[in-house]
Amino acid sequence: MSHSIAVVYHSGYGHTKVVAEAVAQGVEESNAEVKLIPVEDVDNHWDDLAEAKAIIFGSPTYMGSVSADFKGFMDKSSKVWGEQGWKDKLAAGFTNSASFSGDKLNTLIQMSVFAAQHGMIWVGLGLMPGNNTSEGSPEDLNRIGSYLGAMAQSNADQGADVVPPNADKETAKVLGRRVAEMAARFQ
Ligand SMILES: Cc1cc2nc3c(=O)[nH]c(=O)nc-3n(C[C@H](O)[C@H](O)[C@H](O)COP(=O)(O)O)c2cc1C
Repeated sequence: MSHSIAVVYHSGYGHTKVVAEAVAQGVEESNAEVKLIPVEDVDNHWDDLAEAKAIIFGSPTYMGSVSADFKGFMDKSSKVWGEQGWKDKLAAGFTNSASFSGDKLNTLIQMSVFAAQHGMIWVGLGLMPGNNTSEGSPEDLNRIGSYLGAMAQSNADQGADVVPPNADKETAKVLGRRVAEMAARFQ
């Protein structure tokens, strides 16, 4: 049986959308069904979110936290929170920003607290850090070294057709695959 997994994301300039698409590809590679939902369109998808086995959250890091648009989605979800409609669903997160750190961790922490408020079960990235030894490379999976979720880095002066680099897209796919596999195991 196919598990439906939702990816709810915001992207102001297209870079985080590329990451969201890579996460979705990872889900599909694990033979699960994926719904890619931009936050602008969430009002047409509350039923999809209610049906999903897992929800993966994605936002650029703006000013050290989720973007205002993503926070708008979080606040809108308070109706679902009141009913604990997402309780016991799996949750995971990803973010993208211009700097290597750029305070991306704070964005993932914000998402994990949000998931906890909803009674959801947080799934981390599950990869060892890459690119942190003399033999490491920027091509490594998880080159930014995150545990809580997938991180991507997009140079501020390059378009979404060029960045984030392939390693970050591959890392995002791993997150999608992992959540799909966990959803199947959790069934
Ligand atoms: C309002 C604003 C705030 C930003 N704040 C940060 C930040 O705190 N850390 C960082 O590394 N990059 C920051 N950036 C850069 C974006 O995270 C980066 O350009 C990212 O790729 C944008 O993703 P998007 O194209 O999906 O909107 C900021 C960009 C904007 C527009």
